[in-house]
Amino acid sequence: MTISREIRLRAKPNGAPVPSDFELATVDVPPPGPGEVQVRNLWMSVDPWMLRALREAVGPEAPPQPSRFGSSVVGKAPHANAVGEVIASGDPQFTVGDLVLSLDGWREVFNTPAKDLERLTPGRLPPQAYLGVGGLTGLAAYAGVTRVLDVKAGETLLVTAAAGAVGSTACQIAKIRGATVIGSAGGPEKAAFLKEIGVDGVIDYKVEPDLDAALARVAPGGVDAVFENVGGRHLAAGLNAAKPFARVLLCGLMTGMAGGASEPVPANLMRVVRQRIRIEGFSAGDHFGEMPTLRALLADWLETGQLQLRDTVAEGIEAAPGALLGLATGANVGKMLVKLC
Ligand SMILES: NC(=O)c1ccc[n+]([C@@H]2O[C@H](COP(=O)([O-])OP(=O)(O)OC[C@H]3O[C@@H](n4cnc5c(N)ncnc54)[C@H](OP(=O)(O)O)[C@@H]3O)[C@@H](O)[C@H]2O)c1
Repeated sequence: MTISREIRLRAKPNGAPVPSDFELATVDVPPPGPGEVQVRNLWMSVDPWMLRALREAVGPEAPPQPSRFGSSVVGKAPHANAVGEVIASGDPQFTVGDLVLSLDGWREVFNTPAKDLERLTPGRLPPQAYLGVGGLTGLAAYAGVTRVLDVKAGETLLVTAAAGAVGSTACQIAKIRGATVIGSAGGPEKAAFLKEIGVDGVIDYKVEPDLDAALARVAPGGVDAVFENVGGRHLAAGLNAAKPFARVLLCGLMTGMAGGASEPVPANLMRVVRQRIRIEGFSAGDHFGEMPTLRALLADWLETGQLQLRDTVAEGIEAAPGALLGLATGANVGKMLVKLC
């Protein structure tokens, strides 16, 4: 038996999650059965989709959820992407020491069917990068900038939540493609980070009562494309600054995501008509096939210094709920992670 600790969802959040919605439990993990693998988690990812999954939590009596990305179950450890190391294996496909990606974060050690693990090739990216820039985060930024928006040299791109994991990667990929990048984020530390990574026009929206005026100042000619992570007044300002035939990628809408009041949907949709703006919803999951190319490219960019990473790291399983609450209130610069081992 191996002793492990895990965070369980004690109660379905009523609006924004609070610490008392979670509890720490100690469990005995038996040796893995045939076809199972035992994993010790090294890193857990903290992502906005986890807030939605908690808000949609179901009771333990509910039928099993069709998708592991779906709702959480009250009384159980929720899902989160995690990178871990195999410590015992009942399946011939995995051996002790393999690095694996799973959806079984919120736990220190767990058993799982081998089919639910992805083996990672250790190499040019550090293990935690597979949860950020070398995972869904990086894929969202890469596919959003290069495939959907197809940002070109000489164009101006606006990125919102620009100092976050997806946003900061999107900014840097657009810079690599030769675009002028405008980034909006909350607070002086985030603004300084954006300048460090080469963002041309930085907006600290927390001290800008008028986002239209701020955008007119840093992008007087308007914007050709918008990488939208926030919604509400950010999206409204992006539409107001959009040049004719601008493209707007809806990657995510953080406003309202944490369970608080969401900012209203922009009322200026006539801009879309007048400027012939294309607005497109987006899922990084549609671009999974590009992951190997992306990981190789990222490793090159990291080695040449064209891409810089910033992580915000919480230490230990007991810090995981606080890390998620922190993501919901913008406490992170770059990727929010929990170091488990
Ligand atoms: N479509 C896809 O496939 C896909 C995949 C991954 C992520 N996403 C989306 O991409 C966006 C960024 O995700 P991420 O993982 O990189 O997270 P993140 O940006 O690292 O963290 C979230 C950030 O959102 C900002 N924010 C702005 N308004 C907020 C509000 N009202 N409430 C809370 N936070 C607010 C905060 O930064 P400030 O302090 O600057 O406000 C916070 O740090 C999210 O919308 C997410 O849903 C989409």
